[in-house]
Amino acid sequence: MGYRVAVVGATGNVGREMFNILEEVNFPVEKMHAIASRKSIGVEVSFGAQILKCEDLAQFDFSKVDIVLMSAGGAISKEWGEKIGAAGPIVIDNSSHFRMDPDVPLIVPEVNPDAVKDMRKNIIANPNCSTAQLVVVLKPLHDEAKIKRVVVSTYQSVSGAGKEGMDELWEQTKGVFVLGAPPPKKFTKQIAFNVIPTSTPSWRTASRRKSGR
Ligand SMILES: NC(=O)c1ccc[n+]([C@@H]2O[C@H](COP(=O)([O-])OP(=O)(O)OC[C@H]3O[C@@H](n4cnc5c(N)ncnc54)[C@H](OP(=O)(O)O)[C@@H]3O)[C@@H](O)[C@H]2O)c1
Repeated sequence: MGYRVAVVGATGNVGREMFNILEEVNFPVEKMHAIASRKSIGVEVSFGAQILKCEDLAQFDFSKVDIVLMSAGGAISKEWGEKIGAAGPIVIDNSSHFRMDPDVPLIVPEVNPDAVKDMRKNIIANPNCSTAQLVVVLKPLHDEAKIKRVVVSTYQSVSGAGKEGMDELWEQTKGVFVLGAPPPKKFTKQIAFNVIPTSTPSWRTASRRKSGR
């Protein structure tokens, strides 16, 4: 017996990795669907030896699947997550959208699988990537000797901006050595040979105002 699974965000970095991992762990799949936006209808993605043609999120009948792995960004999860859950399948949402929703358990399977009993909307959320891997390590330490405080620094990667962000880094990196880097689209500044640009922090603006700089 296998599950009928749909990956929403199938053309993205995360979606493609989901296919790889489901294949790697031999997840029991009866039928796999690749879902993306309308512009990707018919685009081919691989799931093991199978080539899947992408289907349009807005047209897909989610009542015919058991599990939906959702990774198309917070705005898409906001618009579609609950509608898909109401159609029947369990939605496992990778975005930040449902993380603070009291009716949606926030689960890392190695840490709090029992929280699934709190599921009210057929949706399970998961934390961001740095938190998910950190708590797997912290859990046994916490069980052994209660942790009171954790100090963590995380560093943002270009891949966090998705496929478009990584493409921009690649094109600009090539461009720097030839005709000059193409102008930024996804990021606010050139990302090649840079760190992730951010807007001026409010404390800096305030101190500049005070000092007249
Ligand atoms: N929880 C975690 O650990 C974790 C880690 C990394 C990323 N994420 C989250 O995962 C999400 C995707 O990241 P990514 O790096 O894979 O991004 P990405 O490479 O930019 O891919 C985005 C995916 O979403 C699809 N999409 C965009 N707009 C859509 C629409 N209107 N309807 C249907 N599908 C649409 C895209 O399809 P098209 O190609 O058709 O546009 C594409 O498949 C983000 O929310 C990110 O924050 C979570």
